Amino acid sequence: MQDLKIAVVGATGMVGQEFIKILKQRNIPAKNLRLLASARSAGSIVYYGSNEITVEETTPSAFNGINIALFSAGGDVSRYYAPLAVKAGATVIDNSSAWRMDPEVPLVIPEVNAADLEQHNGIIANPNCSTIQMLMALAPLHRINPVKRIIVSTYQSVSGAGGKAVFELQTQSRQVLDGQSVNPHVFPHQIAFNVLPHIDVFLDNGFTKEEMKMVNETHKMLHDYSIIVTATCARVPVLNGHSESITVEFYESMPADEARGILTMVKGVKVLDDPTINVYPQPWSATGSDDTFVGRIRQDLSQPNCINMWVVADNIRKGAALNAIQIAETLAANDWVKAKGVR
Ligand code: A2P
Repeated sequence: MQDLKIAVVGATGMVGQEFIKILKQRNIPAKNLRLLASARSAGSIVYYGSNEITVEETTPSAFNGINIALFSAGGDVSRYYAPLAVKAGATVIDNSSAWRMDPEVPLVIPEVNAADLEQHNGIIANPNCSTIQMLMALAPLHRINPVKRIIVSTYQSVSGAGGKAVFELQTQSRQVLDGQSVNPHVFPHQIAFNVLPHIDVFLDNGFTKEEMKMVNETHKMLHDYSIIVTATCARVPVLNGHSESITVEFYESMPADEARGILTMVKGVKVLDDPTINVYPQPWSATGSDDTFVGRIRQDLSQPNCINMWVVADNIRKGAALNAIQIAETLAANDWVKAKGVR
């Protein structure tokens, strides 16, 4: 990984900034890094440890000499530039939803389905943040006792909607506390002191695109289209960190203690589950952590073979930037960076 030339597309955004932070923590040398954004940001300076890196405009030639391009600049930018980056010789790891359901594009959480990375055509998709943390908790259980049905409700922070959304929550919160009126731009309604059962666009089936991402991406990554998944995704006035209430039904009995025991052994998962002393996962304390936190594990009362749990992760980190960098590390460690083509 240290020798690879890495481009970050969307370097000035929420996820882009997290990419840069993690690459620094991984000791990627500044000389191997190219930071790209829109023409608006070209020429601005980003501090990378003691180095100053100048942000460049994203153009097709910006990918010359790049081995891995980490994209987080929205679907339109990915759809246009990812094929051009591949043509220039780079392997793209894309955080948008543009390529996720393309059958030729691996969709990967390294802890869940790393083997899917071996064959790719140069584009790899990073999953939706809510699906990543849900499967970090469910895949280890599914390997032991297959999952039959998942009912999930999410409580998603505003950082998932980008830097402007974070600013909107901060601004509106001050305005409401000062008795002023608010003027929503990013969200369709006031987000401060409110909850919106609406993330991404509504589809003909009554679900939102975000909700259907949780259904479709679960099937693709677990390679099991028989699992029944139903999701309700809500935006809550939390700055960062997504929470999920999950009810999961297994084919066989899954005592809560057994699930707790299995999850305690999983790398990347931390069980925080002691209600007697008010220990449970929270978005505030999960922020900045690489782990997915699981708590409130208990037997469901409505159905046999079911448990309930509460799952929290930093959506910008494990839900986006960290997962993409773990994909890059898996490619590098296995000599899979160069595209070998899809079987
Ligand atoms: P810029 O800051 O120059 O607009 P966020 O998800 O936090 O809103 O950030 C979005 C990121 O995507 C920013 O880095 C933004 O750069 C970048 N971006 C937006 N439009 C383009 C574009 N047309 N080409 C390249 N990068 C873009």
